Amino acid sequence: MDHTYTPLINALEQKQQARSFHVPGHKNGRVPPPWERLQSILPADQTEIDGLDDLHDADGVIKEAQDMTASLFGAAKSWFLTGGSTSGILAAVIAAVRPGERLLLQRSAHQSAHAAVTLAGAEPVYMNPSTETISGLPLGISPALLEKTLRAYPDTAAVLLTSPTYEGYAQPLTEHVSLCRKYGVCLLVDEAHGAHLLPGAGRFPEGAVQAGADLVIQSAHKTLPVMTMGAWMHAGSSRVDTEAVQQALQMVQSSSPSYILLGSLDAGRSYLGRFTDWEALADTIEQESRHLPVMPESAGIWRRDPLKLPLLAGSAEEAQQWEKAMHDQDMYPELRLGRVLLVTLPLHTEAATELLRELKTVIPHRAAGTSFQETAGTGWTVPALTTRQQRTYPVEAVPFEEAAGHTAARSLIPYPPGIPLVLQGERIMEAHLEALRRLGGQGVRVKGNGPELRVYKE
Ligand SMILES: Cc1ncc(COP(=O)(O)O)c(C=O)c1O
Repeated sequence: MDHTYTPLINALEQKQQARSFHVPGHKNGRVPPPWERLQSILPADQTEIDGLDDLHDADGVIKEAQDMTASLFGAAKSWFLTGGSTSGILAAVIAAVRPGERLLLQRSAHQSAHAAVTLAGAEPVYMNPSTETISGLPLGISPALLEKTLRAYPDTAAVLLTSPTYEGYAQPLTEHVSLCRKYGVCLLVDEAHGAHLLPGAGRFPEGAVQAGADLVIQSAHKTLPVMTMGAWMHAGSSRVDTEAVQQALQMVQSSSPSYILLGSLDAGRSYLGRFTDWEALADTIEQESRHLPVMPESAGIWRRDPLKLPLLAGSAEEAQQWEKAMHDQDMYPELRLGRVLLVTLPLHTEAATELLRELKTVIPHRAAGTSFQETAGTGWTVPALTTRQQRTYPVEAVPFEEAAGHTAARSLIPYPPGIPLVLQGERIMEAHLEALRRLGGQGVRVKGNGPELRVYKE
């Protein structure tokens, strides 16, 4: 396949000079934008005019661009998303799980997965993920735990797993795929951090489409040269009801999707399709990060994406000092979590090398870490109130110090990474309040937190 070909971008280029008697209001940039920097891109900010197809009923250039993406990943079908992986996760769960049906997901899932539970009216079971003991980072769900949970909940409609994690650790998913087939449930994978994980990408972890997952959602904007919010979703098998997915996507996305984002996705697919530097990039990153305290690239079943470098400090205070040292030099890491400062690199050997050299001027030289201790995740939890009950119970605000013992009516989410500490419907414990105080002391922002917390009146 010729990945230099960009059907959607070509069509957008052709319409740059068109006289616009339609939305958007800037009329292809004819109305001078109050922010001059936008002038050059506005002519690409088109709408569903003749020749530019329609995202929600694609049969022209958008379909062509989506089909090229599906072919690149070896998927049965791909959809472009203009609302990030968030919109894909919402649509996937709505399409796969009917109200009252069971969804198994890991407790460490991103907030969008928890929002999907609420929107779909699904009844969740939260599997406890394995963790890396030294850093405290969540990893994933072992096939053994998945099978045990599937056996305990025979009414399960779908399973949603996250791989790789925010910090870049991925696990092989083929066994999870076989289990989901055996129990007749759909496997959805939040691969938001793995849009670059193509078949044959050398030392990079295997992607979920290749492993045989049914629906795979990827934030192209996170690791590819794609604009923020640009994402895509793949149907990895023909077991997915693609019409139901299409319908759900129409519900959760704008009826006026951004053509700039769609064009950016076409460009991102073209970039990825032509990228061949896998080995050189992984080798260069390894070499340039040799004297940085990076967590191991592989341990047990876990393989870290070379583009993610979790730097392990001696303490949370030291990680905070490293972050400050970076800020002082106008450098910004992806996230700080306890002892870990996470930096992410681009899928581009020269740019990654330059960034790493700059990073090394700030982070103290130290041998890369080799220790990695896995604590296996066991068991699962279900919320104190079902999703259905949460819809009907009244809500009140209680002072923070008196919240223990109440059931949360709003999730408490440290951001980043966006993994809830307390989920809506879960009982608030004294230990949660303690963790919130500690996070506040470390300068971590927690959505939903404040002098009063919203709880259900039971
Ligand atoms: C694991 C995971 N899933 C989903 C998302 C949502 O992705 P997006 O920002 O593209 O909506 C994120 C965002 O950080 C994430 O970390």
